[in-house]
Amino acid sequence: MEASIAIFFGSTTGSTQMVAEKIRDLLGERLSHLADVNTAEASELEQYDVIFFGVPTWNVGEMQDDWADFIPNMSELNLAGKKVAFFGVGDAVGYAENFLDAMGELWAAVYAQGAPTLVGVWPTDGYVFEASKGLYDDNHFLGVGLDEDNESHLTDERLDLWLAQVLQELALVEAAGEAVDEAVAQ
Ligand SMILES: Cc1cc2nc3c(=O)[nH]c(=O)nc-3n(C[C@H](O)[C@H](O)[C@H](O)COP(=O)(O)O)c2cc1C
Repeated sequence: MEASIAIFFGSTTGSTQMVAEKIRDLLGERLSHLADVNTAEASELEQYDVIFFGVPTWNVGEMQDDWADFIPNMSELNLAGKKVAFFGVGDAVGYAENFLDAMGELWAAVYAQGAPTLVGVWPTDGYVFEASKGLYDDNHFLGVGLDEDNESHLTDERLDLWLAQVLQELALVEAAGEAVDEAVAQ
């Protein structure tokens, strides 16, 4: 059975919402649900196999307001076995020392709920910034980084490439899971 996919985003001035809607359009029928965490219930997260999290950073390295309200409501969730992907929106020029920080904070909060599998880790090549808490390792962000303030012309290409990568990783994880199931059954 094909995995169900949902997008949950928070957005103060609309950039992350616009990106979430682009991802919705690119996923087409593969997407089951698009939710603004301003109105969503945390328990909705448990209904999907694959969850995309969209988060902008605000107030110099801080979590976006709607996410800051939503995260404490996630504390009872069990996200074990789910696949999660992140898209972070920030400003690498104005906030170079805190670029995409909230993506790291959100991943930590999500990981604490059962250590779901992260997909869509994205190279930092081509980005100019000083420091980020949204890093996976020295050369990768936890998810795709988007900068609508300075590099909106790159967003469509970044999303196309990233989504192709995410869907490929999901297929590989799925295939590996089935192989394990078969091996266990034998
Ligand atoms: C007061 C203020 C503080 C910000 N702080 C950060 C920051 O620390 N790091 C970052 O990457 N972007 C920062 N940004 C940039 C926003 O994340 C960016 O404008 C983003 O597109 C907003 O997304 P939204 O419209 O979905 O809320 C800040 C923007 C403002 C206005």
